[in-house]
Amino acid sequence: MRIYTYLAFVCLLLLSSCAKQNDSGSKEDQFVNDLMAKMTLQEKIGQMNQRTSQWEMTGPAPDKENTQNLQEEIKNGRVGSMLNVKGAKATYEAQKLAVENSRLGIPMLFAYDVIHGYKTMFPIPLAEASSWDTDMLKLSAQVAAKEASASGLHWVFAPMMDVGRDARWGRVMEGCGEDPYLASIFSVARVRGFQGADLSKDYTVAACAKHFAAYAFSESGRDYNTVDIGTYTLHNIVLPPFKAVAESGVATFMNSFNLINGSPASTNAYLQRDLLKGDWGFDGFVVSDWGSIEEVAYHGGAKDLKQAGELCINAGSDMDMENDAYLPYLEELVNEGKVAESLIDDAVRRILKIKYKLGLFDDPYRYSNIEREKELVYNKENRAAAREVAKRSMVLLKNENQLLPISKNVKSLAVIGPLADSKDIPLGSWRAQAITNSAVSLLEGITNALPKTKINYAKGCDLTIGERNFRVELTYGKNNQSGFSKAIKAAKQSEVVVLAIGEDCFQTGEGRSQTDIRLKGDQMALFNAVYKVNKNIVVVLMNGRPVAIPELAEKAPAILETWFAGSEAGNAIADVLFGDYNPSGKLTMSFPRNVGQCPIYYNHMSTGRSLSSGNVFWSHYTDSPNTPLYPFGYGLSYTKFKYSTPILNKTSIGKAESIELSVNVSNAGNLEGEEVIQVYIQDPAAKYVRPVKELKAYKKVKLAVGEQQTVKFELSKKDLGYYSPDGEFLLESGTFHIFVGTDSQNVQKVSFTVKD
Ligand code: BGC
Repeated sequence: MRIYTYLAFVCLLLLSSCAKQNDSGSKEDQFVNDLMAKMTLQEKIGQMNQRTSQWEMTGPAPDKENTQNLQEEIKNGRVGSMLNVKGAKATYEAQKLAVENSRLGIPMLFAYDVIHGYKTMFPIPLAEASSWDTDMLKLSAQVAAKEASASGLHWVFAPMMDVGRDARWGRVMEGCGEDPYLASIFSVARVRGFQGADLSKDYTVAACAKHFAAYAFSESGRDYNTVDIGTYTLHNIVLPPFKAVAESGVATFMNSFNLINGSPASTNAYLQRDLLKGDWGFDGFVVSDWGSIEEVAYHGGAKDLKQAGELCINAGSDMDMENDAYLPYLEELVNEGKVAESLIDDAVRRILKIKYKLGLFDDPYRYSNIEREKELVYNKENRAAAREVAKRSMVLLKNENQLLPISKNVKSLAVIGPLADSKDIPLGSWRAQAITNSAVSLLEGITNALPKTKINYAKGCDLTIGERNFRVELTYGKNNQSGFSKAIKAAKQSEVVVLAIGEDCFQTGEGRSQTDIRLKGDQMALFNAVYKVNKNIVVVLMNGRPVAIPELAEKAPAILETWFAGSEAGNAIADVLFGDYNPSGKLTMSFPRNVGQCPIYYNHMSTGRSLSSGNVFWSHYTDSPNTPLYPFGYGLSYTKFKYSTPILNKTSIGKAESIELSVNVSNAGNLEGEEVIQVYIQDPAAKYVRPVKELKAYKKVKLAVGEQQTVKFELSKKDLGYYSPDGEFLLESGTFHIFVGTDSQNVQKVSFTVKD
């Protein structure tokens, strides 16, 4: 083929000349150095420019005039990367423009938001986190990488590792929840799933750690809002997951929209240069978020786009996503002496190295393989994996009188609710290439599982009315109870009711913060109407954030949190409802009783007035308990687990020593099940006040009926220490408490001392 001959020739030329010119360093360094020696400053700046395809946009629409010349710009080597081009054919065509026309034929990097699957949808990330199963998180990312890489993509904008404490913020669905330890290990698992051990292998893509940093701390949970965060919280809560993935070899980082201490994060040199590229030794590159350079000026941090660009490149933002700040201004800024050319070289070197690692200089089209795309995308195997991950992501919140699991011999079952027959809502919000209405609905899943049961279906009410998609504001159904009578009739005619309620998937995600996190529209009225005639109600919740459901929690005998469970949602929910899978998920975000408690999180500090004083002058609400409705780490099983008294192997340790905790856990119920044994610590008297509890370890064990296991945990300096507000890691001597148990509240305590 003409193209391949041409390419092989270009590659050979480049490789042989670099071998001649530079004998030192790795092959990769030699190649990149040689290529850079041939590049003009404008060509280098072109590599730092990322543009969107016009087919799909995930931010404010780009100005038309600027986009008309996109093809010409690609041909002129002025576009180093594109987002939102996807599919083997489209990426092939776009790549051809760069490789066959630009002077040096440097391939582009194709990126896309593959947040919880490419075409086969997996549960939303917050759901997957509830599995507390790193193998499941890795599997989900692996399948997504397999599908994405067969469709021409090299790079995914995931995982998001923003530690989120505020359920109002719509993007909590994209993260791992409120805990930095879980966000660290889960994000590392996701990165391993995406990137594998070698980026040049088929089935792997470059990952992107985002959003650097503190984006989840936007005031009052409103997306893109101001962030005012102290350095103590920054170092101990926000940064650990980013450090963990940087150390585990993530290829790229994305910065964030928000302010940190008065300056936009994209202009923060301390974070991007000193910490990330300095102390943490990150050798990949940093991409801006969509418009996060341009928005520096809107924040009031620069007088115009040019100055915003200057601040961002100097601070370490290597690639410009849809800001149009670098391409027009960087050369001028270099000539004016405001930006050192060495910084541009550093950014370009980082970008070219990732292209090299991905194997793009060997074959720029290797990812755009139509045959592989047909074979690998949305196949049976991937859907089976999605079902497996989905059933492990569900959290049993309540199960009075063991209403669940429902016997498969049940004669009649009512399936009610606005979400019961939805084939779309389970797909979630960041749904990449998912086909609209392609999920297995709950009704379908139940019908598949119970072919002999009389299923009485009624929608009951609408959750939303009118248009619903990724870009529009939703309108909720309200005061339309015309469907209630059919629902009541179905409930009356059935032994058990499964009621599917919750959120529309487009209620969460980017740009979808909410001030009221109760169930919208007529859903609670529907619950009450059905409850009146049949008390055997299993509530199946579908939602993307913790919701405030105190009334449901009080009345409904059984509640199963299923989140947005992906392509196989209905089948996976049925697996749990009818006992083919015993639920093992645990919440990674506290569920508040009401929105007024937000942000609510388990690892809070003790106040000076934490205990009731018998009068009003203590830290509390006068209209609600302080505690959450369901705490962090909470989740039931169909079986019962018993914990022995935990034992420590020592009463005191030196700072360089570790301590071992053992606890015996047995399955005292009637079904095989999995338990997540959680270990928290507290340093109750520290130089800088420490949280009342911090998760430091956990193990998920599977126990047959009657089986027991002694589980051991080792804690050492890295677990017992913390960061000062200046980012210095400290371990202080004194008493430490360890709490072990089934959730963050239900624990047993043991103590020991750390000696100097
Ligand atoms: C989001 C990022 C996303 C990017 C590209 C932005 O609006 O904040 O998370 O990766 O768009 O779609």
